Amino acid sequence: MFYDTDIGMLLIDACNQKPTPHTPVWLMRQAGRYMKEYRELRSKVSFLELCKSPELVCETTVFACETIKADAAIIFADILLITESLGFELEFAKDHGPLLHNPYTPNHVFPASDIQHQYDYLGQGISLTRQALPKHKALIGFAGAPFTVATYCIEGGKSKEFAKVKTLMKENPKAFQALLTQITDATIPYLQLQIDAGADVIQLFDSWISILTPQEYETHILPHMKKIFSNIAVPTIYFGTKTKALLPIMKIAGSTVMGLDSDVQIQEIWPQFDFSPIQGNLDPLILLEDFSTIQKQTDLILSQVSNRPGFIFNLGHGITPQTPVENVIRLIEYVHEQTSN
Ligand code: CP3
Repeated sequence: MFYDTDIGMLLIDACNQKPTPHTPVWLMRQAGRYMKEYRELRSKVSFLELCKSPELVCETTVFACETIKADAAIIFADILLITESLGFELEFAKDHGPLLHNPYTPNHVFPASDIQHQYDYLGQGISLTRQALPKHKALIGFAGAPFTVATYCIEGGKSKEFAKVKTLMKENPKAFQALLTQITDATIPYLQLQIDAGADVIQLFDSWISILTPQEYETHILPHMKKIFSNIAVPTIYFGTKTKALLPIMKIAGSTVMGLDSDVQIQEIWPQFDFSPIQGNLDPLILLEDFSTIQKQTDLILSQVSNRPGFIFNLGHGITPQTPVENVIRLIEYVHEQTSN
C-alpha cells in the first residue's frame, strides 16, 4: 500500500472516528521477548538500562513497528518507571519480574521530585523515535493507571491475591488514597512530558483493576482517572483486563477510546457505548495456533465491527513471549487486506 504524503495518522483518525484506508493495527507488547533481536539485545543490557537509553529505546520501538508493519509504535518503557520518582527502589530481577524493595507503608516519604528532569531519558527516547518513524504512524506514549501502579507499590511486586492492597483499601483508606493521589499527580506531568516530546496518543494500562467491584471503582478510583483524562489534550486509550463488569464505570473516566480485553463481545458492548471508539480484542493465545484459526478468530472480530469507523485492531492483552513473529506479521497483513477500502 502507498500513502499520499498528505495522509493523516491512521490511529488518530480512528480515535476521531474518521474513515481510514484500512483498519489501524498495533499490538500491546509488540516490542519484546517474542522477537529474537530483542532477546539478543537483552542478553547484553539489563531491562532498566535499555529503558534508560534513548538510542536503544528508539531502535527497539522502531524495529518492532517496522518488522510487523503495525500502524503505530508504542514507546519502549514500563508502567513501573514512575515509581522511582515516588521514592520506591525498583528492580527487574532476572526471572522474577518487577520488585519494589521498599513497599508502601503509611509512613512512606514521597520525595519532592522533578518529573521533567528525572524522565529526561524518556523524553529523549520519544523525540528520537518520533523523528525515525514515518509520519503516518502514530507514536503511543503510556503510563500505568494509578490503581495498577499502586498494587506494585503496596505488594512490593507482582501479586496473585492482592491481599495487602485489599486490606489497605479497607482498613486505611486515607493512606490508600494518599498513594493514589501521589501517583496521579506524578502521572500527569509524566504524560505531558511524553506529549511534549512527540507522543501522539496516550494509553493508560489498568491491568489489575478487575479485582475491584464497580462500587469500589467508583469510590476509590474514578476521581483519579477523571483527573488524568481531563488533563490530557491528545487522544487517550484506557485499557484493563477482565473488565467486562467494570467497562460502563471505566467509560465514565473519560478516555477517547476504550480498550477491550478478549472476554468482551464487540457487538454487545459497542452499541452500549454509542459506537464511540474502541480498541481490541483478539485473544493473544490465538497467535500460538495455526493461521487458519487466527484468520477465523480475526474474521469474527471484523464481522462485528463491519467497517464502522472508530475501531483500532489490537489484542485483548499483551503478546506472549512464545508467539511466532511470523504469525504476528501475517495477522497484521490479513487485517489490512480484509479492511482495505
Ligand atoms: O511493546 C510494548 O508494549 C511497550 C513496552 C511495555 C513494556 N511493559 C515492556 C516490558 C509496556 C506497554 C509495558 C506495560 C506493563 N508493564 C504492564 C501493563 C500491560 C500488561 O501486560 O498488563 C505491566 C503490568 C507491566 C509491569 C511489568 N513489566 C511486569 C509484570 C514485567 C515482568 C513480566 C514480563 O512480562 O516479563 C515487566 C517487564 C517488561 N516490561 C518486559 C518488557 C518487554 C520484559 C522484560 C524483559 O525480561 O526483557
